Amino acid sequence: MTKLLHIDSSARPGRAGEHPHGSQTRRMTHAFVTGWLAARPDDVVTYRDLGTMPPRPVHHEWIPSAFTPEAQRSPAQHAALRESDALVHELQAADVVVIGMPMYNFGMPSALKAWVDGIVRVALTFNFDPKLADPYIPLLAEKPRRAVVLTSRGSRGYDAGGAHAAMNHADTALRDVLAFVGITDVQVIAIEGEEVGGEVLADSAEQALRRIDMLLEDWLPVAAMPA
Ligand SMILES: Cc1cc2nc3c(=O)[nH]c(=O)nc-3n(C[C@H](O)[C@H](O)[C@H](O)COP(=O)(O)O)c2cc1C
Repeated sequence: MTKLLHIDSSARPGRAGEHPHGSQTRRMTHAFVTGWLAARPDDVVTYRDLGTMPPRPVHHEWIPSAFTPEAQRSPAQHAALRESDALVHELQAADVVVIGMPMYNFGMPSALKAWVDGIVRVALTFNFDPKLADPYIPLLAEKPRRAVVLTSRGSRGYDAGGAHAAMNHADTALRDVLAFVGITDVQVIAIEGEEVGGEVLADSAEQALRRIDMLLEDWLPVAAMPA
């Protein structure tokens, strides 16, 4: 059985194609997860809707709590980390992580950044040893995990080689964070031109949905193999 973690972070609750002003990224994550379950109905999906329920950003009680070894934490410190712990456990349990990520002001939405800040946890998802040449140790590299980042942008040209590639701090940053905790098998599929609309958007959305189908064809047979 494969475990999927399905994350949405668009502030728009509906899906494009079904709801007026619906979210393209929600449409993409839905296409991926329903396509997966159609082939593997017994797999388990955990759903985290950051767009409608953003995690609390890092706060003054969170920081000393996260850096206090678990056995020495006070009840208040455990409480300060409860939400972050839940986010970490969901990620640890997942084999495949499906992340819907709109581009907001050239980066990721603040709700997704709050998730990132919640899952990057010393002793849980990474460790630090200043004696090593590379002091960071990714702790989620202990089992193979895959991630697909399904992103949408209002304008165009944010992919490598594009006119605005240097301004893309969204999927590029998320890829770095996932690698930092040990998830390096990451695919990114983007819709561009959401604010251009018309044929530009329709073509880009069609291409993205086709790429999602191709990725499913690629990943599903591997998921069926025993670990
Ligand atoms: C607050 C906000 C900031 C945005 N910033 C950018 C941006 O920097 N570049 C861009 O191309 N589009 C930008 N957009 C457009 C979104 O990326 C686009 O609407 C995308 O489809 C949103 O994802 P969603 O459809 O899943 O909600 C922005 C939209 C919003 C609401």
